Amino acid sequence: MSRKPTLAVVGATGAVGTVMLDILSTREDVYGEIRLIASPRSAGKKLTVRGEEVVVQALAPEVFDGVDIAMFDVPDEVSAVWAPIAAERGAVAVDNSGAFRMDPDVPLVVPEVNPDAAKARPKGIISNPNCTTLSMIVALGALHRQWGLAELVVASYQAASGAGQEGIDTLYSQIEKIAGNRELGQRAGDVRAVVGTEGPFPAPLALNVVPWAGSLKDGGWSSEELKVRNESRKILGLPGLKVSATCVRVPVITTHSLAVHAVFGSEVDQREAQAVLAAAPGVVLSDNPEAYEFPTPNDVVGTDPTWVGRVRRSLDDPKALDLFLCGDNLRKGAALNTAQIAELVATEFTS
Ligand SMILES: NC(=O)c1ccc[n+]([C@@H]2O[C@H](COP(=O)([O-])OP(=O)(O)OC[C@H]3O[C@@H](n4cnc5c(N)ncnc54)[C@H](OP(=O)(O)O)[C@@H]3O)[C@@H](O)[C@H]2O)c1
Repeated sequence: MSRKPTLAVVGATGAVGTVMLDILSTREDVYGEIRLIASPRSAGKKLTVRGEEVVVQALAPEVFDGVDIAMFDVPDEVSAVWAPIAAERGAVAVDNSGAFRMDPDVPLVVPEVNPDAAKARPKGIISNPNCTTLSMIVALGALHRQWGLAELVVASYQAASGAGQEGIDTLYSQIEKIAGNRELGQRAGDVRAVVGTEGPFPAPLALNVVPWAGSLKDGGWSSEELKVRNESRKILGLPGLKVSATCVRVPVITTHSLAVHAVFGSEVDQREAQAVLAAAPGVVLSDNPEAYEFPTPNDVVGTDPTWVGRVRRSLDDPKALDLFLCGDNLRKGAALNTAQIAELVATEFTS
């Protein structure tokens, strides 16, 4: 019987959750009831979704009773415990955290790239990729369909909001502390002395770039760099794809950027690559260097697509392309992709 599914948004008060409420209020409304869930700290708070005030409930097993789809926009350790509880109670859990992404029994889904993967979910859980991978994979998926990807060399320029609301607050606070001081940034350590190191970044982010995101893994790699490698392989179904990533945090509030060197199985052509990208759903080509037309985070923030520019065929390898991509890490990089996955699941109730 066709009916509109009941949705729970767990983590509705966070950086991703806040964007999710906006997305749920502006996309086609496919849901019946929408429940908003967060920690006990936020219980009783009122948030607006679809133009209506909804009271936030504290996370508890009973909040999932009668829920068909439960989105999780919460830290890894919260998802690890609660997504299986939601699934046990009959909901399909769509998880934005890193808790289940590499679990072989949990599909990792990008609707423009591998929508069919969402149908096979033995644990009742579907994972949403990390924001850095999501900011490039729709465009790379289109190029892969054309020429077959063999290798990726990626440098990321990641926004502060990738570290959640705390990241946003930290960068704004650092900017306030340095505002008006025209001497800073000229002597080693002078910015650090003014802004300190509070917050989620291991070095000052204002007037700086920080070659670190995530936690330390074997061989000096960061967890974020390994996510780019492992998740790209899983989404594209290419377990042998060569991937090297260097993840760097830059003083941008929201929208990740990436410089990508992509090597393919056969010779590529610059104009053809531009045409493939221009035609790809979810991708906008902005590539006219004569007019200084290319994506920048400040022009892209708040938009849904992946923006691509600076498309060039490598001078030394006819099988390789170099490109620059920007994507809003809180929209396609998190909330939008989760919303798109949930919409795929919702069609199972309404069709
Ligand atoms: N930021 C990004 O670019 C991005 C991109 C992709 C994926 N993600 C992932 O999305 C998830 C959320 O990230 P975020 O950036 O939105 O984080 P955030 O701003 O710190 O928000 C965290 C949310 O989780 C809730 N929460 C925390 N502990 C809880 C608990 N014990 N029980 C119930 N709710 C709890 C918080 O509720 P209270 O407000 O009540 O504390 C808040 O709603 C993370 O797994 C993150 O890795 C983030």
